[in-house]
Amino acid sequence: QIKACLFDLDGVLVDTAVYHYQAWKRLANTMGFDFTEVQNEQLKGVSRVESLNKILAWGGVTKTDTEKEELATLKNSWYVDMITKMTPAEVLPGTVEFLTAIHQAGYKLALGSASKNSATILERTQLAHFFDEIVDGNMVTKSKPDPEVFLKGASLLGFKPEECVVFEDAVAGVEAAKRGGMKAIGIGEKSVLTEADKVVSGLDKLTVKDLEEL
Ligand code: G6P
Ligand code: MG
Repeated sequence: QIKACLFDLDGVLVDTAVYHYQAWKRLANTMGFDFTEVQNEQLKGVSRVESLNKILAWGGVTKTDTEKEELATLKNSWYVDMITKMTPAEVLPGTVEFLTAIHQAGYKLALGSASKNSATILERTQLAHFFDEIVDGNMVTKSKPDPEVFLKGASLLGFKPEECVVFEDAVAGVEAAKRGGMKAIGIGEKSVLTEADKVVSGLDKLTVKDLEEL
């Protein structure tokens, strides 16, 4: 039986995936190449450093560790410029309603995000108060698809993995949930999130009943 809900942030609660994409695209363009939206799927849920490594590989570009650090910092500065202007209006449809409903139904909530910017985003969008625990990129050493972020969330909430369901828009995130022994609800396309137990287009398509039926 499900007792706790673990939420990815980017692309599930808020549409920051587009800001990540814009910032990475801009960085790739400054190095003289581009990448597609299909390739961008592979960056979702993946840490900043690992995203950069993938992008450099796509462009066939080699950089030193110092250069990589500078590039990641540059990308993040563009990204932070965008997210510090976010408002509660950018919370994805149905999010506030669903979080309110499951909270009232007695489920515990945790954030499980790879982002080191989660505090800024939750604060700007006024979502922070919903979460009993917050686990983000500042607290984990292994990136999704490693289950560390969700296992940490489950243990902080005091539940076993099988009592938890993860909400994820990323292939790597769904894989992390399954590897951790949790249920996964995919937010996006069924054809992309093939490992998920259920896939919906957004939290606006979910009710408490869906959790009882998992
Ligand atoms: C999320 C996003 C990724 C992003 C990662 C790190 O998982 O889906 O696209 O790279 O967080 O975010 P950060 O804000 O720390 O650069
Ligand atoms: Mg995501």
